[in-house]
Amino acid sequence: MQHSIFIVLDGIDGSGTSTHSKLLAGFLSLKGLKIYLTQEPSNSDIGNLLRTYLKNDKIPASTDALLFAADRVLHFNNDIKNKLEEGYTVISDRYLESSIAYQSSQSEEISVEWVKTLNKFAGKPDLTIILDIDPKLSLTRKHHKVLDKFEDTSLLEKVRQVYLDRAKNEEYIVINTDDIIEIVQANIQEVVIEKLDQCGIQIKN
Ligand code: TMP
Repeated sequence: MQHSIFIVLDGIDGSGTSTHSKLLAGFLSLKGLKIYLTQEPSNSDIGNLLRTYLKNDKIPASTDALLFAADRVLHFNNDIKNKLEEGYTVISDRYLESSIAYQSSQSEEISVEWVKTLNKFAGKPDLTIILDIDPKLSLTRKHHKVLDKFEDTSLLEKVRQVYLDRAKNEEYIVINTDDIIEIVQANIQEVVIEKLDQCGIQIKN
């Protein structure tokens, strides 16, 4: 029997990964679980560098792929793994599927296989949920005026397709997020409760 699980919410910009990660963390805390909520890019020096690179379209896509992988391997091995061992249920707002979808969509030279290889030292989540939305709608949810380099409808169409293809191959649950927040969150909670149950992790009623 497992005592903690590693959950990831992933999806295109504006799909609601941050909002729903926070809401899920709150819900699971109320259900009596110890929760560690985290995100990628992480808070490491590499993560901070990546955040500045999100504003810079001169960075080669391969550099992005390498740095996101370096950040992830560090994040998993020095942070997430320890929290899981301490019995925390870990929720990460974005993880490996972000690199697969975004970096492989940035350049034809970047294959899904290469991104997977770069990330082979980052542990696998127990549950990945893909939040899906039409990019035309998702970008209208962005309140800041200066968009990051990936916040572009035609790029996000490609990124979305990679997420959906990966979801099919890896049997990830896809949840559509153009419904109201409460309904989307209830759908996410249902999937997570089922997974916790399968893993023998009990929660309060
Ligand atoms: P966010 O903090 O608003 O989710 O933005 C993070 C951005 O970084 C988002 O556009 C997706 C992108 N990203 C990648 O391209 N590759 C990755 O591996 C990760 C974690 C994020």
